[in-house]
Amino acid sequence: MPNQKPIFQNLFFLLLSLSIFTNVAHVSSKSTIEPCSNSDSCNAVLGYTLYTDLKVSEVASLFQVDPIAILTSNAIDISYPDVENHILPSQLFLKIPITCSCVDGIRKSVSTKYKTRPSDTLSTIADSIYSGLVSADQIREANSISDPSVLDVGQSLVVPLPCTCFNGTDNSLPATYLSYVVKPVDTLAGIAARYLTTITDLMDVNAMGSTAIKDGDILAVPLPACASNFPRYASDFGLIVPNGSYAITASHCVQCSCGPGNLNLYCMPASLAVSCSSMQCRNSNLMLGNVTFQQSSAGCNVTACHYGGYVNGTIVTSLSTSLQPRCPGAQQFPPLIAPPNSVTRDSMFAPSPSPQSNGAGTPTPKSSGVPTTTTGSLPGLGLPPANSPIASASSDASSLVNSLATFPSAFVLFIFVKLMMSMSL
Ligand SMILES: *[C@@H]1O[C@H](CO)[C@@H](O)[C@H](O)[C@H]1NC(C)=O
Ligand SMILES: *[C@@H]1O[C@H](CO)[C@@H](O)[C@H](O)[C@H]1NC(C)=O
Ligand SMILES: *[C@@H]1O[C@H](CO)[C@@H](O)[C@H](O)[C@H]1NC(C)=O
Ligand SMILES: *[C@@H]1O[C@H](CO)[C@@H](O)[C@H](O)[C@H]1NC(C)=O
Ligand SMILES: *[C@@H]1O[C@H](CO)[C@@H](O)[C@H](O)[C@H]1NC(C)=O
Repeated sequence: MPNQKPIFQNLFFLLLSLSIFTNVAHVSSKSTIEPCSNSDSCNAVLGYTLYTDLKVSEVASLFQVDPIAILTSNAIDISYPDVENHILPSQLFLKIPITCSCVDGIRKSVSTKYKTRPSDTLSTIADSIYSGLVSADQIREANSISDPSVLDVGQSLVVPLPCTCFNGTDNSLPATYLSYVVKPVDTLAGIAARYLTTITDLMDVNAMGSTAIKDGDILAVPLPACASNFPRYASDFGLIVPNGSYAITASHCVQCSCGPGNLNLYCMPASLAVSCSSMQCRNSNLMLGNVTFQQSSAGCNVTACHYGGYVNGTIVTSLSTSLQPRCPGAQQFPPLIAPPNSVTRDSMFAPSPSPQSNGAGTPTPKSSGVPTTTTGSLPGLGLPPANSPIASASSDASSLVNSLATFPSAFVLFIFVKLMMSMSL
């Protein structure tokens, strides 16, 4: 089916804003633009590369996003003590979940504000601190800055960030879109392979005429996802969780996961749940996420307690029964990783969890008159033991990684040198 996404591509952001005040020679980066007409916002993801070592909470405040949401989006285990103060390594690639609005007819995120610090320039804020997700000119325009050479320390700047939603679908399947800043080493084929999509799909989505991509371009990369169907009045309406990751919702009371086996959103009480409203399905003894079934000659009678959204501070639950040809196996969960300490090749370019299964514990039969019960025996959000193989693998790999990590540093240096040169013009 031909792609019907109405996109204007090849919009040269930097050319749009004819730079009157500076003589800086810009790279002309392309960015995929999605026109929009209503005021609905939607969920999207930013691909962010850390410019320096940062605490989880510092990354969160750069984007004004819940730190727990950043961790769960990257399948990082939040059960580690003091995980919000964990220091993430420079050059780590993270997916940042954001709300994508419709502003002046195009999709963008405008909820991020940055408080300037001494020695910040618009270029360092754009290229380094926000890792190329925004340009200096876009920040200048968004804040009507007439003289970019004078930035007051402590000034609060709106940082417009690129995002797309395309109705939460890609080729009619649920998807959420990652705004990906092309690095010098990238090829379209490489990006397609890394995100389990195809070159054709990337070209369609981004309305590209050729496979050529350039350092600094921003691509919309579709990530297969699990969609919710909460009512419009739910505060988490439109929740969509990319395959291989988690989301936390309902005031940290509910965690939802997607994959790896199927793309059905699965929600259950979160480990962080402190004071939460009831998560029991009405007229049953089932809690959110519980699934029971009974094999009969007609098939498998499956009863499940589902999450239906967060409404007025209440966790909506619904009980469903269905007759299925086969009884479902234990719920599977995307593998969690330990909070990263070093940049591995994977985490640098894209944190894709290794296809290792865990968390899908053994069924826990309960003597409660419920016939057969399976639950993912998750200790909270929790999942794999603290010293999961992934954690040790990343430290073992650090020597290998050092050589790989030089490329991005060289890139940062390159930006820096360029900046210096442009300032001396
Ligand atoms: C958006 O997706 C919904 C279903 O999720 C569909 O009903 C609607 O027609 C789609 N809209 C567009 C413009 O594709
Ligand atoms: C979801 O992720 C798992 C593990 O990463 C992968 O095996 C599976 O193919 C993915 N599903 C889709 C629809 O992309
Ligand atoms: C139901 O889910 C809760 C919370 O996840 C879990 O603690 C409990 O063991 C489950 N009970 C049954 C009967 O499956
Ligand atoms: C399936 O189970 C539910 C509850 O256990 C029961 O009310 C319902 O009648 C059953 N349906 C069938 C088709 O067996
Ligand atoms: C939420 O609460 C307000 C008042 O507290 C009420 O007017 C509104 O109808 C409620 N919404 C829903 C969906 O229950």
